[in-house]
Amino acid sequence: MAILVTGGAGYIGTHTLVELSKAGYEYVVIDNFCNSDKKAIERVEELTGKSIKLYEGDIADCELMDKILKENNINACMHFAGLKAVGESVEKPLMYFKNNVIGSIKMLDVLIKNGVKKIIFSSSATVYGEPETMPITEGFPKGETTNPYGRTKSIFEDILIDTSKADSEMTAVLLRYFNPVGAHESGRIGEDPEGIPNNLMPYITQVAVGKRDILHVFGDDYDTPDCSGIRDFIHVTDLADGHVKALKKIGVLPDGEVPADTGVIIYNLGTGKGTSVLELVKAFEEANGVKVPYEITDRRPGDVAVMYCDASKAEKEMGWKAERNIEKMCADAWNWQKNNPEGYKG
Ligand code: NAD
Ligand code: WQD
Repeated sequence: MAILVTGGAGYIGTHTLVELSKAGYEYVVIDNFCNSDKKAIERVEELTGKSIKLYEGDIADCELMDKILKENNINACMHFAGLKAVGESVEKPLMYFKNNVIGSIKMLDVLIKNGVKKIIFSSSATVYGEPETMPITEGFPKGETTNPYGRTKSIFEDILIDTSKADSEMTAVLLRYFNPVGAHESGRIGEDPEGIPNNLMPYITQVAVGKRDILHVFGDDYDTPDCSGIRDFIHVTDLADGHVKALKKIGVLPDGEVPADTGVIIYNLGTGKGTSVLELVKAFEEANGVKVPYEITDRRPGDVAVMYCDASKAEKEMGWKAERNIEKMCADAWNWQKNNPEGYKG
């Protein structure tokens, strides 16, 4: 029995492969490397001491997907493959709908035809839109997403919900990630954005390592204690561990399956604690003894002031809780960046 991991060469996928190995799971990876590097797979092999069965290709390639499912004894799919740059999705919405929605539908169809009906989906806190109160529980209604990327996540969630209603064997876990940061503590795998980073932590690490001059802090006029935005940052290893717990929750164990709930289950994956942009910069400087020069600029369009979750459902139902604090997130992000200043290209 093996888990099919789509997008397994990416940031969250690689960290999840390491945790899956630790927990004793076998897996097969499909990735088209549109936003990742083959070196990332080699590094996972180095960390786990096992070679990875890798298929290079697109999840929308039904023939390839069918071949993978026929050649391997797959019993569940972890679906990470997707495009994730919010700004790019505004400029190229069709590319995002095509890849993240149409590609995922094609993949799901082949999975179901081959009897694979257990899926763990990488969703996002962005599906909540801009709730009026915090913390966000899974009971909050989905909100108006501010960009096409967010809509692709919300749409594919709905597709999984409707598919599950029509097939009592379907089981989908929708994992709504808050803000994943950090890297594996070995410093061998980490986040390797192409070009100018969109997200805060890789921007901070690139300023610290001297690749960029200065961090732009987007807005100091939010209604928050230090007037900068607040997010729920979560260590990527904790996030990866949440995926392993989700497999167990739906009865998929390393050596077989046990009866478990079917249908759709939704979990927030975050720490439940908000940290402001300025607090994160300070924590990074203190944890690592480096300076991160910054300047305040205008708000970034589409940004919400505050986002943090109530993560108690995942703890109650899956026994999962984020263990790593902000200092550890900063230390591991820096350990990765300083040892790999050019990411996997170095
Ligand atoms: P990533 O870009 O590092 O990884 C995604 C991987 O999927 C890449 O290796 C890419 O090459 C591959 N891929 C993309 N489209 C593909 C396709 N059509 N066929 C085959 N492979 C394809 O991103 P990540 O940060 O690891 O995110 C993983 C998932 O989690 C994504 O679906 C993303 O939307 C979601 N997510 C990420 C965050 C975040 O902040 N990183 C937050 C919430 C949700
Ligand atoms: C965090 C905070 C910025 C960069 C995005 C997606 C979301 C999910 C996670 C995929 C905000 C501020 C940022 C910078 C800054 N991705 N910031 N200077 O926007 O919360 O979430 O990534 O699913 O869908 O929207 O994350 O890291 O971009 O920003 O001041 O250079 O840092 O304004 O307050 P965000 P982020």
